[in-house]
Amino acid sequence: MFEKENSGIQVQLVQMPNSTDTQRNTYVTQISSGSTTPDVYSGDVIWPAQFANAGLAMPLDQYFPSSITSGIIPGGIQADTYQGKLYAVPWFTDAGFLYYRKDLLQKENLPVPTTWPQLLQEAQTLQSKGDVKYGFVWQGAQYEGLVCDFVEDLAGAGGNVLTSSGQVVLNSPQAVKAVSFMRQLITSGVSPQAVTTYQEPESLNAFLAGDAAFLRNWPYAWAVSQDPKQSKVVGKVGMAVLPNWSGGVTGPAALGGWNLFINPHSQHVDQAVAFIKFLISPEAQQFIALKGGHLPILEAAYNDPQLQAADPFFALKPTIVSRPSWTPNYAQLSAKLQVQLHNAITGAETPAAAVAEAAKEIQQVVSGS
Ligand code: GLC
Repeated sequence: MFEKENSGIQVQLVQMPNSTDTQRNTYVTQISSGSTTPDVYSGDVIWPAQFANAGLAMPLDQYFPSSITSGIIPGGIQADTYQGKLYAVPWFTDAGFLYYRKDLLQKENLPVPTTWPQLLQEAQTLQSKGDVKYGFVWQGAQYEGLVCDFVEDLAGAGGNVLTSSGQVVLNSPQAVKAVSFMRQLITSGVSPQAVTTYQEPESLNAFLAGDAAFLRNWPYAWAVSQDPKQSKVVGKVGMAVLPNWSGGVTGPAALGGWNLFINPHSQHVDQAVAFIKFLISPEAQQFIALKGGHLPILEAAYNDPQLQAADPFFALKPTIVSRPSWTPNYAQLSAKLQVQLHNAITGAETPAAAVAEAAKEIQQVVSGS
């Protein structure tokens, strides 16, 4: 579509590995060594502070003044601004949701679970009746996705990693509750042991194959679950906000999403700017929403009847939970947390010990010691 509208500019797509951590490491190595490619890259919502701080992203204020970005959803531009300068432009946003097998819940006369204990119980019922192999699949591999699942459970228990002023408050009964539950999902057999190696694709595949009653994933999973070429559960899937515990936030959803950055060494800045303007245009935003299930970053798209009809997301009201990525050290903070969370869910450490250790290490990262 872009090439048709812009004769003379060709776009070459470079497919990146799925894991956000692997993508980040690739760009950090490539761009810090002075590579002039890629011109434009898509980067995780948790990267702008780090990339801006390390000189891996071009300041974009002169190309994307507020006259161009004013239609973007609240918070989008702010999340891409570091020390007063804009370093990226939002492309699509993300939030964690619960996917469920509505046919199986109907068959056993069960409601859509709204609390975690209820989900555990219903999953066990469906498993014991022989309706499904696994109760609940999610992202338990040692990578960024595990942090997303955890911050949702943590907020759903009423806890937090950091306060807005940067104080580490992770070592709490709420965190121990959230981590203990993640471990319990595995020891109870509701989640397979292998969930500790799952990223988004593995968890989604188990659900698409009809092997799991519940799935935690991002909105793209909706579009895939409705595609008969990829899914055995077309028409059998429902989407809801994630469960919580009493005292926690309702429908906690980790804030994810991807932004468009320009390589500071690019030799094609004007073309890169034109391409980004196209990617945030209403037509391109509607296209990736309909074809990819991605949530648009244009506020007006949320009133588009075609999108509302195509995707159940638009009727849901999650509570958005951010990761503490305003610090340029977020990658280190997350890496420490990933190790401890993984130790706890595999049983290598108790949830209480893992939470205490993670809090201690995060304190060191935050205070720069
Ligand atoms: C999705 C989210 C991103 C998150 C990643 C974790 O891609 O958009 O923000 O870091 O998942 O796996």
